[in-house]
Amino acid sequence: MTKEDQERFPVATVALRDGTEAVIRPLAESDAEALGDFYEQVPDEDHRFYCPHPLDRESARRNAGRALSPLEVVLVLELPDGAIGGYAWYRWKDATAPSSGFGICISRRAQGLGVGGLLMTRLAEIARHVGPPVMHLTVQKANARAFALYSKMGFRVIREQTRRGTPERGWPEEPEFAMERAVR
Ligand SMILES: CC(C)(COP(=O)(O)OP(=O)(O)OC[C@H]1O[C@@H](n2cnc3c(N)ncnc32)[C@H](O)[C@@H]1OP(=O)(O)O)[C@@H](O)C(=O)NCCC(=O)NCCS
Repeated sequence: MTKEDQERFPVATVALRDGTEAVIRPLAESDAEALGDFYEQVPDEDHRFYCPHPLDRESARRNAGRALSPLEVVLVLELPDGAIGGYAWYRWKDATAPSSGFGICISRRAQGLGVGGLLMTRLAEIARHVGPPVMHLTVQKANARAFALYSKMGFRVIREQTRRGTPERGWPEEPEFAMERAVR
């Protein structure tokens, strides 16, 4: 997210379902360690659903290092103790890309509190002005909670397909939906 866009869409304060006050803000280069802590707490069952890359400190450093990339928008939800409770993004190939790819992961301690909906709502506000006109995602059929969230946020199924398995982690090949939403 460019510096200019970060200034247009700075920190937003939000209330979680249990009353906790948190902030949603753009990822910063200085988040590398906090993002590494976040990745490391993701349990295997969640990693099976959110698996764009290994969830390790090296990936955290690489992703935080791209915080100012003009080809992605990455938001974090920061809890009162400073921990990252949620992480959501969309990325695209180049200035003419017709659609972006979306991803989201919420920490175990922050799940079920509305964080997914809050992060997606904020991303949708930004996507009206920044990036391609369409957002794309894939979700395994087994991930009923994510599917419910995406449907509520206006994503529609465009195709059913098969997600490749990861035998070394014991994750089988499984059916998934491709979903899309026009963002403006
Ligand atoms: C899936 C995920 C993003 C949802 O975020 P969250 O903050 O926990 O979810 P929210 O509290 O915003 O609630 C999501 C909705 O799903 C609903 N839901 C919860 N469990 C459900 C289930 N088993 N089946 C159907 N719907 C369910 C909730 O009722 C809620 O709807 P509501 O707000 O109308 O009540 C989050 O749990 C997560 O990161 N999971 C692990 C990684 C992952 O699956 N990432 C997505 C990869 S595609």
